[in-house]
Amino acid sequence: MFEVQYNEEMEAEIKRLEAENRKAQGEVTMKKSVGAKTLLFPTPTLMVGTYDQTGKPNLMNAAWGGICCSQPPCVAVSLRKATYSHAAIVERKAFTVGMAGESRIMEADYMGIVSGRDVDKFAGAGLTPVKSDLVDAPYAEEFPVVLECRLLHIVEIGLHTQFIGEIVDVKADADVLGDDGLPEIMKIKPLIYDTAHKGYHGVGPLLGKAFSIGKGLQK
Ligand SMILES: Cc1cc2nc3c(=O)[nH]c(=O)nc-3n(C[C@H](O)[C@H](O)[C@H](O)COP(=O)(O)O)c2cc1C
Repeated sequence: MFEVQYNEEMEAEIKRLEAENRKAQGEVTMKKSVGAKTLLFPTPTLMVGTYDQTGKPNLMNAAWGGICCSQPPCVAVSLRKATYSHAAIVERKAFTVGMAGESRIMEADYMGIVSGRDVDKFAGAGLTPVKSDLVDAPYAEEFPVVLECRLLHIVEIGLHTQFIGEIVDVKADADVLGDDGLPEIMKIKPLIYDTAHKGYHGVGPLLGKAFSIGKGLQK
């Protein structure tokens, strides 16, 4: 009589065969539907800088945004009409997009829970407003990188209005620049946002070079 040794390798093989069988029987996916939600991982944590009608500088936290065109270089941010920043962008036709580093997590969150309609958020967070020399909008000196944007398009989507800004310049602190003169992600340590559980995360180490590591699969 043979005694069958049931080990992990065999268990994995059985699971693989079972999955193959289910697929063959027409089951397309093992994934579960979690509904039509804004679940994309991660999103950035953007600090949108504007001036109000009186010239008061303001910052708001926006996770709904990102680069949307290479040429001209553009970034999009989606803001609800209810935000104070919304009217400011429409009026001034400009905004800045700052990147908060991990060390400024409290200030970044504060920009997302109080309104410039009620308070001076720069003063409240102890940040220094700097006027962009290129567009009619301010940024915070304390955030290491800022994109200065000229309003290019307004897209009414639904609850949110998407503002597409042409990036006319990027300013960065010298200490976050690498030898090639470009900002380094591990020096900026930007906050990234978990849309499902509403949390801030940091960035991990480099896993592979883009436009390169996938070449191993190229036929
Ligand atoms: C992590 C985080 C992300 C947010 N993302 C957005 C966003 O993408 N769009 C938006 O309209 N509001 C967003 N909010 C809410 C605004 O930041 C908040 O309503 C803020 O008070 C608006 O500021 P303002 O009235 O000074 O413009 C976010 C808040 C947090 C904390």
